[in-house]
Amino acid sequence: SAELWNSAVRVLDKNWAGDHMVPSRRLYPHQWSWDAAFIAVGLCYVNPSRAWRDLRSLFEAQWPDGRVPHIVFDPHTAEGDYFPGPVFWDVPAYGGRRPRGSTALVQPPLHAVAAWEVYRRAMSHGAAAVREAHAALEWLYPRLVAQQDYLTGHRDAGGAGLASIVHPWESGLDNSPAWDAAMSAVPADLTLLQKYHRRDLDVADAAHRPTDVDYARYLGLVLSYRDGGYADAHLARDHDFVVECPNFNAILGAAEIALAQIAGVLGADPQVHRARAQRITTAIVDRLYDARSRTFRVLDVRTGAHSPARCISGLVPLILPDLPAYYADDIMTEARSARFGLPQQTDLPAPSYDRTAADFDTLRYWRGPVWINVNWLLRRGMLQHGYRDEAEDLRTAMVRLVHRSGEYEYFHPMTGEGIGEPAFSWTAALSLDLLA
Ligand code: DGY
Repeated sequence: SAELWNSAVRVLDKNWAGDHMVPSRRLYPHQWSWDAAFIAVGLCYVNPSRAWRDLRSLFEAQWPDGRVPHIVFDPHTAEGDYFPGPVFWDVPAYGGRRPRGSTALVQPPLHAVAAWEVYRRAMSHGAAAVREAHAALEWLYPRLVAQQDYLTGHRDAGGAGLASIVHPWESGLDNSPAWDAAMSAVPADLTLLQKYHRRDLDVADAAHRPTDVDYARYLGLVLSYRDGGYADAHLARDHDFVVECPNFNAILGAAEIALAQIAGVLGADPQVHRARAQRITTAIVDRLYDARSRTFRVLDVRTGAHSPARCISGLVPLILPDLPAYYADDIMTEARSARFGLPQQTDLPAPSYDRTAADFDTLRYWRGPVWINVNWLLRRGMLQHGYRDEAEDLRTAMVRLVHRSGEYEYFHPMTGEGIGEPAFSWTAALSLDLLA
């Protein structure tokens, strides 16, 4: 509707910070990595130049080893306005003429998919927009490839060609029950919370955020990675949290498909990317598919065990075009089940976690609430595999939810009420894409 379109555009105007988009003004006053990808996908309908600028800002802060940091800090934002900020991370400021501090963690590499979407949209914006898009792809392409090389090289702690994450923040699904088993082995030093102040609780309801025990573990993991100079050489042996996530790795594979398309436009070789996508898809099936439950699960690289939790991340491999129909059908069965109840049972998009689980939590971040970004991925997967009616139902459910409740960060999975930050950039941007 025009009403939702206009209000989403206003959110993106308000959250534009000159050369990048913030996810929201109060809780997330810097630039976040996978947010930038989702934002570009919608922002390109109304301001393609800003979509490219945002992606470019992020990749200007890419590390020499190829990693794209999960947060790039805005030097104009006070240290006290976000924790953990630049002082805690203690990372050199990368970025040539415009150095900015960053974290040392990564996030799902959705940027190639986003860049390809922004490029495709440029076709309907005229010749100047197409020239701009072509130049932006030329600048981004080697950097996107370096990002993939870092993730499938340095981060291949499991040795099978997938990327491991070394911190729940890297998943983007911070306190998902998918990490509970692996996180239970990570020391929780609660004295860290006396030493450091959780700024998120100044601006958000504690019942909607990760717990103090979670946070103590989050900080401890960063400190131990930091003590090792953020090096990745012996992760599986030395680091306390090393897991392979189906959401992260499905996006890693989708990125290679998008890179093949980008390579085609730029006159580079698409075939190497198609081959890599195929290898990633095969490794996801080999390692993350649990034949007994017929679902995709998080793998703990240190113990070799699959997580028992059934989370939305297990549905995202549907975005892989090479995923054999057998596994796509299993994902759809899980999506339609009472666990995720898409969307006929509740009129709502899929929750972040199994509705039938005893510890399903309607308020706490990634432990139950509905998030638009993962549902957007799921819909993309449905379209990819020919589930047109389900994709349309899910699109309708997402648009209806945001129209009724506003562009919130996440939503109550029973009532649809908005939770977390209002005026959240990716919810606004993806609404534009769903309406377009
Ligand atoms: C936060 O600030 O809670 C973010 O999720 C960390 O990336």
